[in-house]
Amino acid sequence: MSGTPDSEIVLTPLDEEALVRLLDVAVEGADPLEVLPPMDGPPGWTPERREAFLVFHRRVSLDPETATTTAWTIQVGSTIVGGARLHPVHRGKSVEIEAQVWVARWARGRGIGKWVTETLIDAAREGGGGRYVASTTTDNKAAQRLMKSVGANVDLHDGGVDSHLEI
Ligand SMILES: CC(C)(COP(=O)(O)OP(=O)(O)OC[C@H]1O[C@@H](n2cnc3c(N)ncnc32)[C@H](O)[C@@H]1OP(=O)(O)O)[C@@H](O)C(=O)NCCC(=O)NCCS
Repeated sequence: MSGTPDSEIVLTPLDEEALVRLLDVAVEGADPLEVLPPMDGPPGWTPERREAFLVFHRRVSLDPETATTTAWTIQVGSTIVGGARLHPVHRGKSVEIEAQVWVARWARGRGIGKWVTETLIDAAREGGGGRYVASTTTDNKAAQRLMKSVGANVDLHDGGVDSHLEI
């Protein structure tokens, strides 16, 4: 599927109401490992993982006491199609901006991931720049291709794939 006009894609700051809708989209259109750090227990969207999704996003981006990450829903028109996060990590004088983007299966391959990544890179650059980084697994060719397509260096190693772009 191709041809989603850029003008239809919007990044909307995550809030509590959108988080609940985002969970529904994740359950319907993504594997837990694509959207959440790994956790113990049986695979799939168990009740524990659904709860963990909410708890995780509240902790890292919604609760002002604990937030370290800026998160958005990705919308096409009024439909949520995925999520995005930026987590700046200060290392001495330099900053690494860890990015996580996911798009629901039914919306993939339309240029949305690339548009979002380019928009996040622009936002990170406007926020002072640094090293934009994203990690994935060796079998995730879509993520590797996505990072190459925005000009990142993509390094394969035993433990996975790390991408970085100086911005
Ligand atoms: C990775 C992901 C965000 C890509 O989103 P998307 O909207 O499908 O990507 P786009 O349509 O914008 O495509 C971006 C690039 O990847 C390529 N691509 C997309 N899907 C691909 C696939 N399955 N295999 C190989 N390349 C693929 C596109 O051709 C495009 O490259 P190009 O600009 O050189 O032509 C999406 O597959 C996803 O959510 N995966 C699960 C979560 C994840 O892996 N996130 C990334 C963590 S770093």
